[in-house]
Formats: sequence, C-alpha cells, structure tokens
Amino acid sequence: MVGWRIGKSSLHFRFYAEYKQGNIAMTHYRTQKHPILIVPKRKRITFYWNNRKLQAYEGEMIASALFANGIHVFGHHVKDGSAQGMFCANGQCAQCAVVANGIPVKSCMTKVEENMIMESLEGLPELPRTIDSVHFSKTEQVTTDVLIVGGGPAGLSAAIELGERGIGTLVIDDKGRLGGKLVLQTHKFFGSIEDCYAGTRGTDIAKILEESIRGYPSITVWTNSTALYVFSDKKVGIVTDGTRYRIVDPKIVLNAAGAREKSLIFPGNTLPGVYGAGAFQTLVNRDLVRPAKRLFVIGGGNVGIIAAYHALQAGIDVVGLAEALPQCSGYKVHADKIKRLGVPIYTRHTVLSANGEEHVSSVTIGEVDAAFRPIPGTEKTYECDTVLVAVGLSPIDEFFQQARQAEIRVFAAGDAKEIAEASSAMFNGKIAGFEIARELGVEDKPMPEEWHHKAAVLKSPPGPVEQPRYDSFPDEGITPVFHCAQEIPCNPCVSVCPKGVISIPGDSLLGMPELTGNQCIGCNKCVLICPGLAITLVDYREDANDPVVSLAYEVHNYEYKAGDAVVLTDLEGKALHEAVIIETIMNKASRKTQIIKVKAPKEIAKRVAGFKIQSDEVTLPTGKPTVEGIPDDAIICRCERVTAGEIRQWIRRGMRDVNQIKAVTRAGMGACGSKTCSDLIFQLFKEEGISLEEVTPHTVRPLYVEEPLAVFAGVSYGQKR
Ligand code: FES
Repeated sequence: MVGWRIGKSSLHFRFYAEYKQGNIAMTHYRTQKHPILIVPKRKRITFYWNNRKLQAYEGEMIASALFANGIHVFGHHVKDGSAQGMFCANGQCAQCAVVANGIPVKSCMTKVEENMIMESLEGLPELPRTIDSVHFSKTEQVTTDVLIVGGGPAGLSAAIELGERGIGTLVIDDKGRLGGKLVLQTHKFFGSIEDCYAGTRGTDIAKILEESIRGYPSITVWTNSTALYVFSDKKVGIVTDGTRYRIVDPKIVLNAAGAREKSLIFPGNTLPGVYGAGAFQTLVNRDLVRPAKRLFVIGGGNVGIIAAYHALQAGIDVVGLAEALPQCSGYKVHADKIKRLGVPIYTRHTVLSANGEEHVSSVTIGEVDAAFRPIPGTEKTYECDTVLVAVGLSPIDEFFQQARQAEIRVFAAGDAKEIAEASSAMFNGKIAGFEIARELGVEDKPMPEEWHHKAAVLKSPPGPVEQPRYDSFPDEGITPVFHCAQEIPCNPCVSVCPKGVISIPGDSLLGMPELTGNQCIGCNKCVLICPGLAITLVDYREDANDPVVSLAYEVHNYEYKAGDAVVLTDLEGKALHEAVIIETIMNKASRKTQIIKVKAPKEIAKRVAGFKIQSDEVTLPTGKPTVEGIPDDAIICRCERVTAGEIRQWIRRGMRDVNQIKAVTRAGMGACGSKTCSDLIFQLFKEEGISLEEVTPHTVRPLYVEEPLAVFAGVSYGQKR
C-alpha cells in the first residue's frame, strides 16, 4: 500500500482523539433536529463494545449504535489486517461483521440488545460453543397465492392491486419497516400526483402505501424476513428475525427486491468511511445518525446528488461531488438544487484515491480525458471523513432467475426489473399486480391501454439541457417563473395551480411547463410542490423596480429569518446579488417547505432561483499528493482482500472463467457471495480488452444470504452455544 497514502489529517486525529478520550456523548453523532423528519423519543439501553460501556437506542441496528458512538472501524481483516467497517448497510456485503454475544453477525442487520456484549471482529471469528442440549422445532409450511419479495415502492404497489381483488398475498421484506428506499427519501417525488404521488416526500409515500396494504385482509406482511432460496420443489425458504425458518409454497412470485449499489475500483475503496450512498441515507434518514462531518460524493446520478442534499439537510458539510461524464446523469433540477446551496460539482472528474490509515481522512480526485483516463497534474485533494460511492445500481435478480429455474411463475417489478426512479417503480409494480391478478384468473379485464404508455414515460431518462425562457414571463403583476431546463417526467405544478395558468405542451408528463395566462393569484402552491424547487414567484405589484421573489427552502437546519442577509444565486448557483430576507413562511399547508421572500432588482428578479447556505471555505482543496493512477493493489474482492493485480495476473495468463479465478485467488468466495466484486471482475476483463462473451461467469451460490445452519434446524440464537 504505497504511493497513494497521504498523511492523517487533523480531522482524522481530532475524531480519534475525541473517541479515545471517551468524551463523546451519544448525542454527538445523532441528529437532534431535522428539517423534514421527526426525531422520536426512544428508550436508551446499554451495551458493551470492546469492554467499553456505551449507550444505544432500543430497536436500532448495531452498526447505527456504533456510528452514534463515533465508532466506524468494526474489525480488521484476517488476510492483511486492514480496517473493516460498514459499506452497504443493506445486508449485502458482510463488511460490517462484529461479534455480538459471542456470535458473528452483520451489524447493519442485527438489532442491539440491552447489555449486549460486542467485540470488533479481529481476523476470523471463533466458532461459537456447541449447543449443550439441542431442541429442534418443526419448520412451518405456509401456502399463498402470491409471494412478493420486497416491500418497497414496487412491491407495495403490486400488493395494493392484489389486495383490492382479495388475492391471498404474502409480502416479505428484510427490513423492520415497509417502504424500501422510500423510507430514506426526504425529498419530494417527481412524476404525476395521480400516478405516483408527485410532490410528496418519499417518507410520506411509504406511510401511505403501508397504510393501504395493512387495510386489506388478504395481505400478510412479514418484516425482518429474508428469502434464502427457491428450491426445485417450487418452495421458498424464508428466515424471519434471523431465527425463524419457514417454507412458503406460492402459486406466483413477484420479485420486487430492488437493487444493490455498484462498487468502484480505486485505492482506499475499502477504508471505513467509504460507503454506498444508500448506506449513508440509511444512517442519516432512517436511523437519524450523523455519520460524517465532511462528505465527498462520487457519482452525479440522482442517487449521489440526492445523498448530498440529504447530507445538507442533516447538517453535514458537502465538500463536493465528482462525476466522470461531461454532465451529471441525474436530473438537472436535482443537481442545480445542491449547486445553489454551495456544493461544487466537478464533471469530467473521477476519484483517484480515498486516503487515510484506519479511516478516510481525505479524497483525491482528478480530471479525466474523453476516454475517462485521469489526466496527470490535475489532482486535487479535499479533507473529508466520508466518501460516498454512488455509481449506479444493479438489479437484485438472482431470486427471479432461481424461481424461473424452479419453474415457478415469476414476475419482476421496480429496480429488480429495471433501474429507474421510485415513481416508475410504483407504476410498474401496479402493472405487475394487475398482470398477476389476470394470471390467477381473478381479473378478466384487459390492462388499460394507457398504463403501458405511462410506464414508459415515467422511466424516461432526462432530456437535453436547455436554457430557461425567462423572457417569456411578464414583468408586471405576479407570476411564477420556471427554472426547469430539462424535460423530465413531472407535472405536479400543473395539477395544483387553482387558476390553470400552468400547462405542459401536448398534455404529456414530459415537456417543460409553460405559463398560459396572467391570472396567477400568488398562492405559492406551485412553488411549494415542485420537487426540484425550481419554481419561484416574482411579485411586481408593490414595487416594480424591486419585486419580491418567493423561494422554496427545505434545509431548515441552516436556519434563516427575516433580516438575515443572503447571497442570491441563479439556477446553477452563480452569485447574483446580496439581499435581505423580508419574510419567511412555514405552515401546515407548506408541508415542511418554507417560503423565503427577498427583494431583488427587476433586472435579475426572474433569474433568482435560490441562495447559498454553505461557505466556500468548506469546499477548498488541500495540497496535491502524488497519485500513481489505479495501482495493482486496489482491492477488488473486499471480503477476501483480493487485489486488481492478483486478478489481472490470471487474466493476462489467459484465464477466462471467473470460477477458475475464484479458485486460485478466492475472489468471490467471501461472505457477500460475490455480490460486490463480480461486476468489478468483469470491469477488469474489459480493461484488459477482453470481450465479455469470452468470459464464463461465476456460478451463483445456493443461498442469497448466509445463515447459520442452526436456523434451518429450528435452533434459535437465544440458546447457549
Ligand atoms: S454493511 Fe452490513 S452487510 Fe454490508
């Protein structure tokens, strides 16, 4: 490990010095106040970590309790002693393993218990003691018409269609709460109000969908339940709470298991402090833990951009975001939103290394050429304690494939079928539910013709970037101004305008909104509902030279009140004018979006789209380290610590079968079952100029998630081992 390491930063030292002195209160890393989420009162419990007595909240996961106590290193790898920590927070990677009450567990999926004795996992865990007296309980068998794997937007939408028709449905989800990724989304959704709750926050949509399905008597829900395998006798093994094993016999299966985050090869990619954007959102928005002080995001898709926005909402500094493409692939309104708040976006840049000894202390990025190769001399290093990797998602489809092999009738919906926005997942879940009802003979009507069209529109990628047409808005009276500069499937502004002055040409969801009259009454409904915060209201009525501009704001932990000075920006964050806030409005109808009113000279009033909250100092680079490009010691298989160099060596010797590579290097043989490294191995083949048609993929292991054998025999964890 040479070349890319740079010294520990003062931030890193500060963090660990505080931790070692033990003077960090549990609240230090907790969100005390959130602009959108309610911080509930929870019961405190005690647990022990490497003989230190610490506190957690009842019901939270071990990983969250550790992060809330400032602990990010959960153990050290047996092969090279490298520090291990959380990566996916989704039960997929096993990087977060710790020993709890003598048993190795995934800390992101295991609840902390009162007086639990936890230890970091140093090397390989010892086998638990054998059970003195063994009691086997009988495995329960359950039949159902439909088994839905995944209680996220697609699964729940499908379940509603089935519940409405009284079809026996079992919905399982591996989390304690239904909603999937929706429960992590504090921002408002795109799409249309009638089809997918556009303008409503993901967290609220999750509640709406859950309430709906709980109302149908034909639907059963098992949370904390993981599908382990589809057996050849068409039955599915499911474990609940890590102990209760049941066999389900379904007529039809719907795979709505969502997606897992892709990983990226760069030096330092396995350091604690480097993790997926979904993991970060889980900590920040589900568990109300503040895992970072300064964050850098890699990846300019919607997931990365939104994670940056969520960090700001949680009071975490966002140092920057790097995207290798010339333009972010996420919605422009999302990207503009964070730019206006003061987050720089570095397009045509890639991550070169995450730096630090036991934890991230900085990140180095560099420009890339047209072939995405780093350009020497362009490196910049930023002090940060967390690097989020948000470089795309892969469908979780192994369950679908297995069900097919077992010849069960199987459908897929949501990200498990095709990666798209959650609004699209809801709609194609609804379609899947309808199709299943038809398959079972309960529904005899054909699917409404327009559903297919709507499904296609909702998954449309963003269109080309245009310039907002500011000249088309009047310079008198009161008018909404649209800062949309790209076609995306979204129209709630059209739906909420009580005077019908907003329309989209052709009446489609796609297309930019236009003003179709001058009857605006200044109700602010369009400003409040716009998911991109891309509508302002300009009011010339009292002072035509200095009109009042109303702006939507939802990062209230950066609190502003009347009389505060702000730097107004255009839609992409360029400073336009310094102004004083004249009024702030927040009421029940505004649903946690604040209206901030400022006065701006008429020459710029229509271009004002927001104001900066984050100071430039947060985003300044430190010195330049020497970076040697991606070296052979970058880790590909994080479970078994297999490097790019080891795998390259075998590829160059002619190996084309991933199973052989696995046999000689152990890549893919670790606890995650190759979920994180298989894509990266294929990437290495591609980099070596080998067509993937020549490559034999690895054989998928029989269980999707590892479970102790005792679970299958009905032995619970609670027993002495
Ligand atoms: S971080 Fe827990 S399994 Fe990935």
